Amino acid sequence: MTDRKIERLYQAVATPEGQGVTVHRTIGRQDLSVLDPFLLLDEMVLPKEAKGAGFPEHPHRGFETVTYMLSGRMEHGDRVGNKGVIGPGDAQWMTAGRGIIHSEMPVASDEDVHGFQLWVNLPAAKKMISPRYQDVSKDTIPTVVGGGYEARLVAGELLGEAGPVRDIAVKPFFADITLTKGEATLPVAPGHTAFLYGIKGGFIVGEQAVPTRTLAVLSDGDRVTVKGKPGAQFLMIAGAPTRETVARYGPFVMNTREEILATIDDWNKGRFLDAS
Ligand code: CO
Repeated sequence: MTDRKIERLYQAVATPEGQGVTVHRTIGRQDLSVLDPFLLLDEMVLPKEAKGAGFPEHPHRGFETVTYMLSGRMEHGDRVGNKGVIGPGDAQWMTAGRGIIHSEMPVASDEDVHGFQLWVNLPAAKKMISPRYQDVSKDTIPTVVGGGYEARLVAGELLGEAGPVRDIAVKPFFADITLTKGEATLPVAPGHTAFLYGIKGGFIVGEQAVPTRTLAVLSDGDRVTVKGKPGAQFLMIAGAPTRETVARYGPFVMNTREEILATIDDWNKGRFLDAS
């Protein structure tokens, strides 16, 4: 057994995004542009007073977007008629593949919208596959009770249980974990890129404290031990690296500059959704 340690901490940086939204970004900024296979991680907080703020219509190509909600509700709709609302505890794993054009807007309520958006890369062979949605309501996400923790398991396997998100290229693990005692040891697939992200209460790995709204990149190994007060909450996310070149331009992520130019051309010429 090899314990994973903290390689580096990244405190989130407040970043303007969408229309009138401030996100708290860790992956996808200048000093951590890619954490292969992850391309972006934003913690989104949209105060209930922020009328009209959100993410109006925009495209994606070449990767997957994962939305995970802690509070409030977001409505999504795309150009070909897919539509839905995700609320507290729900997740959506959207494989953009060759292209989607959608909007993601908060539903007005007396609750702030608080959640996460993670971008997961697709390997070259899958960048142009057909779009696919996996909408996961909170009732279908198992709570796995382990030694010293409870984990809401969105994707991957833990103690013999499996999360509802299936058939994703990078074999991801995605769990929202709450400590129930002072210490917990969790298995992590060796060789996979893995990180923790503090949501509530802060925690410690090895000798190093991880405050809230901070991402901890882990070294390789097959388990990680987290210490903290009961109630401390964090995301644990892992996936197989693609080990491919990344060429990105805003919401388009391909392997080469030529592919990005072709994507921009498809977009400008209005043939984004029917390009194959
Ligand atoms: Co989007």
